[in-house]
Amino acid sequence: MTVAAEVAAVGGTMIVGSTGFIGRFVAEACLDSGRPTFLLVRSFHHSATLSSLRHKGALLIPGSINDQDLMEKVLRDHKIEVVISAVGGESILDQLVLIHAIKSVGTVKRFLPSEFGHDIDRADPVEPGLAMYKEKRMVRRAIEEAGIPYTYICCNSIAAWPYHDNTHPADVIPPLDRFHIYGDGSVKAYFVAGNDIGKFTIKSIDDDRTVNKSVHFQPKCNLLNMNELASLWEKKLGHTLPRVTITEDDLLAAAEKMCIPESIVASFTHDIFIKGCQINYALDKPTDVEVMSLYPDASFRTIDECFDDFLAKISVASVVVDKRASGDAIFSPNAPTVVDKVTTKDTIFSPVAVDKRANEDTNFSPNAPIVVDKAAAEDTIFSPNNGTEALAITTTCS
Ligand SMILES: NC(=O)c1ccc[n+]([C@@H]2O[C@H](COP(=O)([O-])OP(=O)(O)OC[C@H]3O[C@@H](n4cnc5c(N)ncnc54)[C@H](OP(=O)(O)O)[C@@H]3O)[C@@H](O)[C@H]2O)c1
Repeated sequence: MTVAAEVAAVGGTMIVGSTGFIGRFVAEACLDSGRPTFLLVRSFHHSATLSSLRHKGALLIPGSINDQDLMEKVLRDHKIEVVISAVGGESILDQLVLIHAIKSVGTVKRFLPSEFGHDIDRADPVEPGLAMYKEKRMVRRAIEEAGIPYTYICCNSIAAWPYHDNTHPADVIPPLDRFHIYGDGSVKAYFVAGNDIGKFTIKSIDDDRTVNKSVHFQPKCNLLNMNELASLWEKKLGHTLPRVTITEDDLLAAAEKMCIPESIVASFTHDIFIKGCQINYALDKPTDVEVMSLYPDASFRTIDECFDDFLAKISVASVVVDKRASGDAIFSPNAPTVVDKVTTKDTIFSPVAVDKRANEDTNFSPNAPIVVDKAAAEDTIFSPNNGTEALAITTTCS
């Protein structure tokens, strides 16, 4: 059988969460692979993302995984063989309903629950991150009890500057004014490009070697600590930046504030860069497989290349800002950023602005990180903003 015929012969893959941060990478990789790709879409407010995915051949199915009857019908009607969930932290337990539907239909050959981070049976963050891991563990146990063939994707950190208060760091340019270095900056972590998270997730779904396994993403070329990451970005910028230490106590205090989602990110940041949760274990369980060993001939994007992408975005941003400011302001990484008030719900808040709101004593930098305005355009429009409006929408504190 030819490769094209083989792909045509595979059943449908349904992706849940394709409008989200991780899900969009998975959906794009699935479409790139030529598989029949069905996207379960709960709401249609991410119209730019959805129309781009539909343009690439995706079939959209309205619905939520909360609805078991609908899920059973969708799985049957579309002959879905693979289900990949990339729902966000607040929806992890919704997957229990989906698991019931998958079990009841009985034709799904592989289920990938929303993981896309650490091995949650090994990592042990402080609260409130722990609460999310407990939910993810419940989902794992439910899948295993139901006897559904699964693959757990443990892709570690996304390739970006690891802001300790931002759930979607790859949507934000690395620092332009100062680095926050966690502890002494010496603890290493794996950084994986979003496209590679998608690509290797899709490679794993019909690979017999990954049935009922945890697939760990440990590309040696992308194992770096904070000091190395900062030096790499300084090399790209062509100048050095001040380094401010964020101590273990600072991270624990940020976690204890119970501002959701920032405190969750603070607890994971503590786990990664203080406790070393990505590097303090051996792949010694029979259920462990490592992605580089599985696909030794496949290429991995390096963090160096990913930082080149961020640098290119600064250049694009400078043109956009220049244009918006009617020739009055020219953006440069060293110059104060022109503040553009952005109201879209999709806009990711600026970590510097978050600091200011969380603690009035924190020095506010006019040079806030540039953020990607996802709603305005899929890839290339950036809006320097002070983030406060988006933050007001996304943050809850107990
Ligand atoms: N490794 C890393 O660096 C990293 C970073 C971030 C996240 N993660 C992990 O990746 C996973 C996805 O997180 P994310 O931040 O990408 O999520 P996200 O951006 O919040 O997106 C969640 C997606 O799931 C959809 N969704 C939520 N509940 C649903 C339901 N009941 N039915 C159907 N669709 C539903 C949302 O649809 P709507 O558009 O309707 O809301 C959205 O498309 C999580 O497990 C998270 O822990 C890993």
